[in-house]
Formats: sequence, structure tokens, C-alpha cells
Amino acid sequence: MKSVALLHASQLVTLSGPKRPRIGHEMSDLAIIRDGGMLIRDGKIDIVGASKEIEKNARDAEVIDAGGRVVLPGFVDAHTHLVFAGNRLDDFERRALGETYEQIAAASGGIWSTVEKTRTANGNDLFAQARKHAEWFLKCGTTTVEAKSGYGLTVEDELKILQVMRRLNQEMPLEVVPTFLGAHAIPRDLRESDYVDLVINEMLPRIASEKLAEFCDIFCERGYFGIEQSRKILTAAKKLGLKLRMHVDQLSNFGGAKLASELKATTADHLEKTDGQGIAALKSAGVQPVLLPGSVYALGSTSYPRAREMINAGLAVVLATDFNPGSSPTASMPMILSLACTQMKMSSAEGVTASTINAAYSLGRGEKIGSLEPGKLANFSIFDCEDYRELPYWFGFPQTHSVYVAGQPVDLAR
Ligand code: NIG
Ligand code: FE
Repeated sequence: MKSVALLHASQLVTLSGPKRPRIGHEMSDLAIIRDGGMLIRDGKIDIVGASKEIEKNARDAEVIDAGGRVVLPGFVDAHTHLVFAGNRLDDFERRALGETYEQIAAASGGIWSTVEKTRTANGNDLFAQARKHAEWFLKCGTTTVEAKSGYGLTVEDELKILQVMRRLNQEMPLEVVPTFLGAHAIPRDLRESDYVDLVINEMLPRIASEKLAEFCDIFCERGYFGIEQSRKILTAAKKLGLKLRMHVDQLSNFGGAKLASELKATTADHLEKTDGQGIAALKSAGVQPVLLPGSVYALGSTSYPRAREMINAGLAVVLATDFNPGSSPTASMPMILSLACTQMKMSSAEGVTASTINAAYSLGRGEKIGSLEPGKLANFSIFDCEDYRELPYWFGFPQTHSVYVAGQPVDLAR
């Protein structure tokens, strides 16, 4: 058995606690061990404790000296659109000059312009671009991401994207949890009802039978998929054994949070426009909110979701990047933590809980990742600071020192 001893973390931020997502005051308890360490065997955490204790058990172990730096569980990013071709620099410029996301989408930009580029790219080119995105996540200290399809919108192109995710899992240390988001936009050349039929009758059965996705998502919004169509698509997905995540109430208070509750979705994401009633519905159905302040920021909006109300209502809040070329071009969880603290009035500790253990539970992986506890995978990041609160405090530059997946160092130099 290969063993590794991590020693001398100024703060080993363990997040050990109940085996479920954290709510209310629990989100503030990070279970930090000062001058902490871990003994790792065969890629899994065996013992967690004070460095002195770990040293006693370390004997033949290879030593990683954290050198008085902070150690956190690898971030778990529960909402990304990792696989796409190209960028949306034109949209970015137009927004800078005052046009809105909706105006640009209705003209020649928006999701559709990324769909056109993604359709043209072959599997290898798309993989090369996705690998670069995966490297960005690792460099920011993220070791697991959820990733959505949704820039193909034909059977073939959606499969191509999901297959790129499968290949990423085989060739990269980043763990990718695949979500099918065929209902991301209505293709310009199809009638809405025809596309809904295509998603239900062709895409979903194929994806379920090839086990290409764990979750099904939908963009439930005016101009995209309405409440009725969303219910139809997600009910079909559920019947095929897929769990549900949903883009809701991003641009308007559209009733999406209520539908997520009715369908017992695992998560309701965005929620910028969700009101008190929507929050209560999520609570009563046990739906986890996934908040995406990166997209509010990058769209130049100030409509951040009501994080404090959600935490006070006892929701197990998750934070994610929403990494995508249109509304949130960032792979940086520390940047998201900064926005959570400055714009949504979350504490640093709440932010860390929302981007690790709560996110892991939202992906059905709470027993395996998201905290540094015996039995879990040794996925952790060392940051060049002494206090975890420095992560959201210093913003806009990387503080990552090194990243480990299953006890192995990730090569960040590529
Ligand atoms: O989560 N809202 C829909 N999907 C993305 C944006 C995708 C895009 O603009 O390409 C989001 O913000
Ligand atoms: Fe999204």
C-alpha cells in the first residue's frame, strides 16, 4: 500500500461533520485543524489530525510538507458548461457598449452562435478545447465539475459533447459529472414542439441507454422552454432514471423554482429572480439551490440571488461558476467566493461549505468527496496563504500552490 503524509497545514479545513448537506449555522463550521495533517493510503484519506499525530503514524510514508499554507478539499463545481467551441468575444464587446444578454441572443449572438461553432468542431478539436478548460479548473483548485451538454442541439452533436466528457474522465485528473442539457435553446431551424419531441423521443432514450449522463437539465425561461414543456421533458428524463437539475428564474421570476419543487429536482440553479414563495417551495421539497454569482457579474447585472434568505430558510446552498462562454467565462471558484462575500453577503466559511461538501451532495457524491475525512478520496488543494478567508479576500489572481487528486499531484505547469 502506498502511503502519503501531508503535514503542516496552517489550517487543514476538513469540513468534517454530519453525513448530509449542511444548513443554517452548520454552514459556518469548517472543522479546521491548526497545524493539521493527513495520512493517505492508496489515494484515500486514512487519518486526519494534528501534524504531530500524523507524523507518528507516517513511518514509510512519502511526505508532502504544506509549509504552513492552507489546505482545503478540492472545490466541487456543481454547474458548468465545460464543453464548447470558441468564445463569445463579440457578445462581450456588445454588452460593454450597453446591449443586454437577451438583445444579443435575439440578434446574431447568444447560445446559438456557440451552437454553430460547436457543431462545426470535430470530436478531437472539441476535446482539445475542453482539455484546456479542464486545466483552468484544476489550476484554480477544483477537482470535480458537473458539466452540461447543450451546445449541440442535434442527436449527433449532443452525443459528441457527452463523449468528450467521457474522454476527459479517462484522460484528465479532473472528475467530470455529465448532465444532458439538450433543452438549452430551440434550434433556429425547428419548431418548438418538434424540438421538444426530438429531445424526448430520440435524445433522452439514446443518452440514457448509453449511460452518457447522470442528470438532465433545462433552461426554463421565457423565450427558451416554458413551464409546460419543461415539465414534459423533465418527467420523461426522470422515467429514464436521470436525476434533475434546472436553470430557473435567471432573467424573470418565471415559476421555475416552483416547478423544480414539484418535480423534486436535485437542484434549482440561478434563482436570481426567485421570491420568498419560491424559496419556501424549494425548502419544502428539499431542493438544493445552486447560486451562480459569476453570471450576474459578467452580465453586468446587480440582481444577485437572495443567498441570506435562503440560508436563513435552511436551504443547503451551493455555489458554482456556471463556466460558459456567454454569461460566465470563469473557471475560478475563488472568484465566485469573492462575489459571494461581497455581493451576496455570505461569510467566507459559508462560501467554502457551499463550494465543497454541499456541492458534493448535490452531485450525489457526498460520501466520496467534498470534505477531508477518513474514507474519502484524497482530493485537496494547497493555497499560498495562511488563513482560508484570504481566498475570497484577495481577488483576481490565483493563490493555488498545488492540487492533489487521489493523493497524486496534478501537473499544473501544462
Ligand atoms: O447558465 N442560462 C443558460 N445557460 C447559460 C448561458 C449559456 C450561454 O450564454 O452560452 C447560463 O447562464
Ligand atoms: Fe448554466
